[in-house]
Amino acid sequence: MRTVKDEALDVLASIGSIETEYPPAPYRPLDQYHSKPSKIRVAGAGAGATGICLAYKLERLLDPGTWELTLFEKNQHFGGTWFENTYPGVACDIPAPMYTYSFDPNPNWSHYFAYGSEIQNYFEDFAKRHGVQKYMKLNTKVVEINWDGNQGIWNIVLQDQVTKETWSDWAHVFVNGTGLLNTWKWPEINGLFNFKGSLMHSAKWNHEVDFANKTVGVIGTGSTSVQILPQLQKIAKQVKVFMRSPTWISPPFGGTALATLRKGAEVSLSTRQYKFTEEDKQRFRDDPEYFLEFRREIEAEINIMFEMYMQGSDVSKNFKKLIAEEMKRRIGPGQEKLLDFIIPKWSPGCRRVSPADGYLEALVSPNVEPVYGEIDYISKKGIVVDGQEHEMDILVCATGFQPAFKPPFKVCYSSFG
Ligand SMILES: Cc1cc2nc3c(=O)[nH]c(=O)nc-3n(C[C@H](O)[C@H](O)[C@H](O)COP(=O)(O)OP(=O)(O)OC[C@H]3O[C@@H](n4cnc5c(N)ncnc54)[C@H](O)[C@@H]3O)c2cc1C
Ligand SMILES: NC(=O)c1ccc[n+]([C@@H]2O[C@H](COP(=O)([O-])OP(=O)(O)OC[C@H]3O[C@@H](n4cnc5c(N)ncnc54)[C@H](OP(=O)(O)O)[C@@H]3O)[C@@H](O)[C@H]2O)c1
Repeated sequence: MRTVKDEALDVLASIGSIETEYPPAPYRPLDQYHSKPSKIRVAGAGAGATGICLAYKLERLLDPGTWELTLFEKNQHFGGTWFENTYPGVACDIPAPMYTYSFDPNPNWSHYFAYGSEIQNYFEDFAKRHGVQKYMKLNTKVVEINWDGNQGIWNIVLQDQVTKETWSDWAHVFVNGTGLLNTWKWPEINGLFNFKGSLMHSAKWNHEVDFANKTVGVIGTGSTSVQILPQLQKIAKQVKVFMRSPTWISPPFGGTALATLRKGAEVSLSTRQYKFTEEDKQRFRDDPEYFLEFRREIEAEINIMFEMYMQGSDVSKNFKKLIAEEMKRRIGPGQEKLLDFIIPKWSPGCRRVSPADGYLEALVSPNVEPVYGEIDYISKKGIVVDGQEHEMDILVCATGFQPAFKPPFKVCYSSFG
């Protein structure tokens, strides 16, 4: 059958003086009429807050019928951070009224710093309301993407997380939504896997393990550890916290906005959590303008602290003094060793500031023992520091992630076209 190209070449040949091979290879006229619409094919890696938002936005920014999207998600369920992190005490430390998509406020948060499961529910509810799930291909890991410049497409190598089979797909546009805090890591400590008790990482909590009346070791002083300790302290017989570095524990972010809801009932700088009353929630629901103003107030209060990150600024100096005093007050008298270790010599903001509810109070509880310094190695029975073995039944590594900006899959360019 003669194609459009054949017809075109005949016309060019009949003119004679024009090169019949024009336009030269590798250009190929498509076998279709001019400007025939074609769908743009988009692939996203990850169905956390980013991937879910991508689907929502594409539906609103692009014309219906002109695009298609697949969100490849390695887990059996979506939600990312809030699906994976289920350790005791997991919560946001940015006030929850801010921890939503800006265009989808949630007047129903139960707590000012919402707990992980409620945040996961927010994303589940959002995905359901906006039909985002239909774009997701779960249990499917992006292993490699390969740019083919001749075709103008990304070839994508995928792996089924259940069968481990691999296959390929392609897209014109590839969006990486795999999160900076998704690849958790074991600490590099000699003998870690020699430990004979229960060993777990904060990002892969083992809910089968019972902490009641057990001796527990927790490694780390980061944002995760400070949320876990107050919870374990309440149930374990003893908790040993292995602290290699100091950390700033701050008053709550957004505390002033909250004071208007507390109506002066609580004045302690260190009490960060607040349970919204039914009256608060009703007002947020009934009066979106008021709710927006409340959210703006929190945002302004947080943004104004930006100067804290400027070395030598008044805000940095004043904040350093304020939070050091507040940490001392919360730790209380007779804790010179802890105070000397935990209050950093550097300014707040050099490392993430954690507004940790109950952390300092837990650290000075009778059943908690801070252990300072580098870990020598891990034995069958526990952790060895400065030659002293600390025996334990359970070891929790709150040792963080690999927050590299490098994608967690291979990126190749087979041709630039
Ligand atoms: C414990 C914890 C508390 C936090 N609290 C706050 C907070 O209070 N405020 C704040 O602003 N931020 C907080 N964060 C940061 C949080 O990660 C972000 O706010 C947000 O959830 C990131 O969403 P995301 O979709 O970009 O990434 P993620 O939520 O990490 O989602 C990435 C998704 O990509 C998937 N994925 C990864 N690799 C692949 C692959 N190769 N193929 C296919 N899928 C893949 C993952 O399974 C995951 O579902 C917190 C993080 C942690 C870990
Ligand atoms: N918003 C929230 O409420 C919240 C909660 C949790 C997490 N997060 C997010 O998640 C990020 C990661 O937090 P994270 O606490 O999980 O990780 P992190 O901040 O990286 O802290 C890891 C901790 O483990 C310690 N550690 C690592 N390897 C060790 C080793 N070999 N020996 C001894 N100690 C070791 C680190 O000590 P060193 O400091 O000495 O390296 C550090 O104290 C945060 O920055 C934050 O963005 C947020």
